[in-house]
Amino acid sequence: MRKKVIAGNWKMFKTQAESEDFLKGFLPALEDTPSGREVILCVPFTDLNALSRNLHGSLVQLGAQNVHWETQGAYTGEISAEMLTEIGVRYVIIGHSERRQFFGETDETVNLRLKAAQKNGLTPILCVGETKQQRDAGETETLISMQLNKDLVDINQSNLIIAYEPIWAIGTGETCETKEANRVIGLMRSQLKNPDVPIQYGGSVKPSNIDEIMAQPEIDGVLVGGASLEADSFARIVNYQ
Ligand code: G3P
Repeated sequence: MRKKVIAGNWKMFKTQAESEDFLKGFLPALEDTPSGREVILCVPFTDLNALSRNLHGSLVQLGAQNVHWETQGAYTGEISAEMLTEIGVRYVIIGHSERRQFFGETDETVNLRLKAAQKNGLTPILCVGETKQQRDAGETETLISMQLNKDLVDINQSNLIIAYEPIWAIGTGETCETKEANRVIGLMRSQLKNPDVPIQYGGSVKPSNIDEIMAQPEIDGVLVGGASLEADSFARIVNYQ
């Protein structure tokens, strides 16, 4: 059975003090979380250390939102995989559409980051997804398949999570119809060497749609933006029926 992976992506939200406040409400709400669920918080670099200290012994694992492919060097503003693992980070989001759209991330650099993450013992959460324009032009399947082909060159598929995040559904309140997300994720799975890779859905996931999303047979979890910022709503998502 594939594991269920519920991850929050805080993007560029929450100071260290705010992140500690969040935990005060969030951790007690996980006392009755059913077993077999992986819960991950992918937070800004500046929050990692404080969260690492506060998450000890809890169900929650720590994730970053990016990693550079070099081990060290003159790369102003970048963070290496070793710097992340040293403070207890286990997961890292790679290739999020916001990185691809605003920071020049390409399939080639995504592939380099994936390799560096895996080499250093991090589990990458690779994000792929189409724009509204590509969806309307009927290009969803071709685009996703191309992204997977390029991003996954020489990548170990036994230490990998993938998130299908249709760009038009991110932060818009417009969720991809659950059956459609299930269909695309099924197609993605059929393209993988390892069909047991957990594949998440991301895009306007909230307490009101989580149960329906998680009832889909191909969907192994969710990557949650806005609704992961508030302890109650993220706890409700983690504790889906
Ligand atoms: O990585 C999570 C994401 O991009 C979805 O964001 O706010 O639509 O849940 P949101």
